[in-house]
Amino acid sequence: MIISALSIFPQIIKYYCDYGIVKQAINKGALKVDVFNLRDFAIKGQVDDTVYGGLPGMVLKPEPIFEAYSHIEQKYGKPYVICPEPWGKRLDQKDFERWKQRKHILVICGRYEGIDERVKVLVDEEVSLGDFVLSGGEVAALAIIDGISRLLPDVLSEPESLKADSFFRWLGYPVYTKPREFKGMQVPDILVSGDHRKIKLWALWHSIERTLRKRPDLVPKDLTDLEIKIIQAIKEGVKFEDWIKKHLREVER
Ligand code: ADE
Repeated sequence: MIISALSIFPQIIKYYCDYGIVKQAINKGALKVDVFNLRDFAIKGQVDDTVYGGLPGMVLKPEPIFEAYSHIEQKYGKPYVICPEPWGKRLDQKDFERWKQRKHILVICGRYEGIDERVKVLVDEEVSLGDFVLSGGEVAALAIIDGISRLLPDVLSEPESLKADSFFRWLGYPVYTKPREFKGMQVPDILVSGDHRKIKLWALWHSIERTLRKRPDLVPKDLTDLEIKIIQAIKEGVKFEDWIKKHLREVER
């Protein structure tokens, strides 16, 4: 997959792509990120201009963006164009799942007061990171590149971690590493018990508990019998340790 990005600060994006999972995706050949400097497509490097109507601020000019688009289209074929904007549709995991199927995505990063409206004929989707205003689209472009790269085939060495991920079905459960005791705080005994059946149930219970507490809007509609039982117990204030004693036989059937 190819992700092109168009920005007046290409280094921001290039730098990030040199680290972590994005770099791994690139090294494994699952992803190519090509970042284009908008200034390279502008006459005398002028990418912005004043707003018609005497309205305040500066806006990205359309010509360099159309020039860049033609260049990128010639290089890699017609892209699916995403434009980060504060009024766009809120970005979520399902968008990454959808976009990872595409051969070529182009992210056009705005700056200043915005992008000349006529550029929008090139744009397939406007997306937002949230209800706040950033000074440019680069942070969103990075979120898109990062979110997609980890979903591409053979990028994560332990694909199980994809399943266990937040937003697969439930939010992530609490995780601990060594030391077993830190500043008087203990790792739950069950996690060092070596009993994998119980540990799996512990993880599911705590994923559900966290989702109910932090993001009840994300509780899935198609609950399994086991999930329904766990939700009931959590709502009744039952502790996992008490529940597992009674229910281990039953849930294993
Ligand atoms: N550009 C400016 N604000 C933004 C936001 N909230 N999300 C995505 N892109 C933006």
